[in-house]
Amino acid sequence: MLDRTHNAAPLPPEIARRRTFAIISHPDAGKTTLTEKFLLYGGAIQMAGQVRAKGEARRTRSDFMQMEKDRGISVSASAMSFDFGNYRFNLVDTPGHSDFSEDTYRTLTAVDAAVMVIDGAKGVESQTQKLFEVCRLRDLPILTFCNKMDREARDTFEIIDEIQENLAIDVTPASWPIGQGRDFLGCYDMLNDRLELMDRADRNKVAESIRLEGLDDPKMAEHVPAALLEQLRDEVEMARELLPKFDQQALLDGTLTPIWFGSAINSFGVKELMTGIGDFGPEPQPQKAQPRQISPDEDKVTGFVFKVQANMDPKHRDRVAFVRMASGHFKRGMKLTHVRSKKPMAISNPVLFLASDRELAEEAWAGDIMGIPNHGQLRIGDTLTEGESLRVSGIPSFAPELLQNCRAGDPMKAKHLDKALSQFAEEGAAKVFKPMMGAGFIVGVVGALQFEVLASRIELEYGLPVRFESSQFTSARWVSGADAAVDKFVQANKQHIAHDSDGDLVYLTRLQWDIDRVERDYPEVKLTATKEMM
Ligand code: G4P
Repeated sequence: MLDRTHNAAPLPPEIARRRTFAIISHPDAGKTTLTEKFLLYGGAIQMAGQVRAKGEARRTRSDFMQMEKDRGISVSASAMSFDFGNYRFNLVDTPGHSDFSEDTYRTLTAVDAAVMVIDGAKGVESQTQKLFEVCRLRDLPILTFCNKMDREARDTFEIIDEIQENLAIDVTPASWPIGQGRDFLGCYDMLNDRLELMDRADRNKVAESIRLEGLDDPKMAEHVPAALLEQLRDEVEMARELLPKFDQQALLDGTLTPIWFGSAINSFGVKELMTGIGDFGPEPQPQKAQPRQISPDEDKVTGFVFKVQANMDPKHRDRVAFVRMASGHFKRGMKLTHVRSKKPMAISNPVLFLASDRELAEEAWAGDIMGIPNHGQLRIGDTLTEGESLRVSGIPSFAPELLQNCRAGDPMKAKHLDKALSQFAEEGAAKVFKPMMGAGFIVGVVGALQFEVLASRIELEYGLPVRFESSQFTSARWVSGADAAVDKFVQANKQHIAHDSDGDLVYLTRLQWDIDRVERDYPEVKLTATKEMM
């Protein structure tokens, strides 16, 4: 577990104003819609009138992220930066499909907080729960947005109870909904004593906000019908009695989540949420590393790669490494040390994902996400520094849950297959094992869909038809221990031994019984289902 030491001293203002976060949600809860509204308020996109149909809106979004087209590098909307108020938000996208959970896990190592979006009618759904558990492992602060309040939603107390019980986290209402479904009027802002009214006529229009002097303010009655007003007063009174109070430290410690109610599609509640992320969310946090922790306010620049995306253009072999800046003030052209190879790297054409002006990064501060185009030198887990031999830790690699043999359709092209597979291994899209005995490769993934994606990408990007076939093995474990013990074990089990793409030893098997046997017969050999990427 990450030792969460919050920043001890105040950070320089440029760093302190940064908020780097991800959105976690179950498909369909409204992540895309909320992201679009963030960008809209962040001045990144202008959408006149009604929000367009989903497909079209998605294109709008990916359009501005398709930067550096002339250099042939296309990067999907993996990271977006925008300003709101005094804050600079860095929103890192989490892959939506549950098959890519490892990628998601690593993405969450690059953020300081998460926004959890739930559907007001559905509450906590399976994918939300899974992603939440990942955030919990890192004690990430979580801010909650309960969406779709313009539709029939569950009772407010019921929603809050469900989060508290299913996710074992305290919940404090930041706002309280007034009516729901067709009668949804807006919210009472419990933190700022304001009435926020939703504008149903114009989905992009900023809703009306009325300052109040408490719930008994006569202005309330001018806007809220008597029956709803009475219900609101009763509920808020009860909520104040029964539910935890807002406590910023508890939010930062990951033990309490404030919840805002709204309707992303109607732009309602979004600004309040953004203000909440800015005012209460964490500033860039210290990063765990070996041999020492990195503090964001250190003068020297450090950063680490949490994601690698290969070029989708088959004519180019460039990749973009997504780097989370852990400390310092980076300026374009700086030479950084690539700690794994100990080689200097001039970072001359980094990309900052600033949504509004799409420019090359001239500078970046701790907390920012930077894209570094490269030819494969940068791998997930790599650390960049100004010379010091630091390695960011806590970026795991998980043992795959599904294994298949991979063969080139044309045996003459086996070499190309080697190249293609190592690229995907570097991207973190698959685990690639080279068995000690016999030819070919064994590819491991977390979800079956990934085999299909890989096959079509290898064909598309390398012009190489491949076949995935069932393997005699079903599990993989990394092997470690004293050299002599490991050697003895390897010699006696050659049929089960392979090397992963980093050259590390792996034990392949189909039976848990085998793993138990190894642990019994070779007490000095350790088999593990995760490996730190460094
Ligand atoms: P996701 O990225 O989390 O998967 O969700 P997305 O934003 O795409 O939203 C899923 C659907 O819910 C979309 O409907 C979207 O318009 C709708 N939606 C989002 N926010 C709200 C809200 O506040 N109120 C209501 N009533 N609907 C909302 P869609 O475009 O029709 O797509 P689909 O339902 O056909 O998939």
